[in-house]
Amino acid sequence: MRVMFSPRYDMAANSECALIDAGLYKPADAFFREQSGTALTYDDVTLATLFSDVLPRETSLESNLTERLQLSIPIISADMDTVTESRMAIAMALNGGLGLIHYNMPERQQLSEVSRVKNHIHGLIQEPIKIAPDQLIGDVLALVEQRGFAFRTFPVVDEQNKLLGLLTGHVVRPRYASRKVSEAMTPRKLLQTVNQKELGSDPIARADLFFNEHIGIHKLLVIDDEDHLRGLFTISDIERITQEKSSLSKPARDDNFRLLCGAAVSATRSSTGNLDKERIVTHVGALVERGVDVIAVSTAHGFSKGVGETVKLIRSTFPDLSIIAGNVTSAEGVEFLADSGANVIKVGQGPGSICTTRIVAGVGIPQLTALYVAFRAAEKKGVRIIADGGITKSGDIVKALTLSHAVICGGLLAGCTEAPGDILEINGKLYKQYRGMGSLAAMKAGSAARYGHSKDSNRKVAAEGIEALKEVSSSLDSILTQLIGGVQSGLGYLGAANLGQLRQKARFIRVTPAGQRESSPHDIVEVKAGT
Ligand code: XMP
Repeated sequence: MRVMFSPRYDMAANSECALIDAGLYKPADAFFREQSGTALTYDDVTLATLFSDVLPRETSLESNLTERLQLSIPIISADMDTVTESRMAIAMALNGGLGLIHYNMPERQQLSEVSRVKNHIHGLIQEPIKIAPDQLIGDVLALVEQRGFAFRTFPVVDEQNKLLGLLTGHVVRPRYASRKVSEAMTPRKLLQTVNQKELGSDPIARADLFFNEHIGIHKLLVIDDEDHLRGLFTISDIERITQEKSSLSKPARDDNFRLLCGAAVSATRSSTGNLDKERIVTHVGALVERGVDVIAVSTAHGFSKGVGETVKLIRSTFPDLSIIAGNVTSAEGVEFLADSGANVIKVGQGPGSICTTRIVAGVGIPQLTALYVAFRAAEKKGVRIIADGGITKSGDIVKALTLSHAVICGGLLAGCTEAPGDILEINGKLYKQYRGMGSLAAMKAGSAARYGHSKDSNRKVAAEGIEALKEVSSSLDSILTQLIGGVQSGLGYLGAANLGQLRQKARFIRVTPAGQRESSPHDIVEVKAGT
């Protein structure tokens, strides 16, 4: 079905027909009050359409989580060791979202993952393949063959990485195999370069201008004050990026034009069982030094003494830092974390695709009800809400955003090229590992504190997550394009031009199991999936 756009329609809110709708399709307060005593999740409800004069493609998905944490799309990749490291965080921020780097790695490594995101310049190849002047063209040909490079142009540098020349593709030929690179390269004095200091706040625009002004030059070498090679732009990358620019969401950046990046920390305890305050402060301090934009105190039970104390400690040491904390599923839990100093609260206990908390511990609240109580508390406390876990399709995101300011996705993104992990082939199909941070394997690797266990403990601990596989999907760009398209359609159906209007306009009604069946393709032979 498509959204129908009729000429401006004067809503007669109290017309007889409007009252028929109002009797069944209820705003959040009335709806959840009626359902009191029953916990609901995304598939239990549907949203009623409303008059619309809003085109989906014109809707804005911007979400300001804090003054400094402004996203162009309200989607965050989960701080899980099979979802978010620097590659995913870079791709998320380039698409206008945010990645939370997980903490299942040594602290030093987490710091360099954050640095990679903060130092990333889109389109700039920061570590181009370089060659030495005394190599033979034959060696270069062998390298191209061995590594399967699709390019044949290489910067030539000395042992200190100083730029000596550029070996262009048209001389990398078998007929010159016995000649030295130094004989065939374009020497330094004939090369056009740009100092990294001159890249300014929009390096892509700078490189684009350079290629416009220098007809026939396809590579721009970036150097520092000492003439060390610092990177390389290629004309084809710049052309692709400038073409894509108009269709993609605005990247999420900080005041210095660097990509936004978040990092997770836990309520670390020392061997005595007490909160290890010194270690927490040193760790967060080092992350802040690397430019991290937000810290997520990520635990399974956020409404707990240790998490409250950790948030208080971070807030008092870093007064201006954006802090996400969680997870909770009650209004009191939101109040507790907000009073401790968190700006943004993560909601979700057990909805995740790899979670077993509700089965193992018998605890947790289906996500939509949890979001409702959390959202109402957040309004009173002046904090934001993130819906964490259980998102399986774009329609779930629309429903989640009626009661939150952003969503966290794990499973939906774990099959992407940008997610960490090796690809496995099973019966001709390609998979990537996706595991719960409360699975035994992940807890052994470091995440036990998130679930209130010690990774060094010899005691048998109860896992609250499983190890699974996700079929390898396409790149994050195409997954997000699908999700964003779906969310924009949702806003279009409700006549909401932005997320604030979505939250204000949403009208809910329950669906039965028969209604759920009706919502998915049925009574057909599916030949091509919709996504
Ligand atoms: P999705 O549904 O997007 O959920 O795959 C990702 C979220 O699940 C949470 N998470 C866990 N919850 N046991 C749990 O109960 C686990 O082992 C586990 N690992 C991750 C987390 O909030 C994540 O963002």
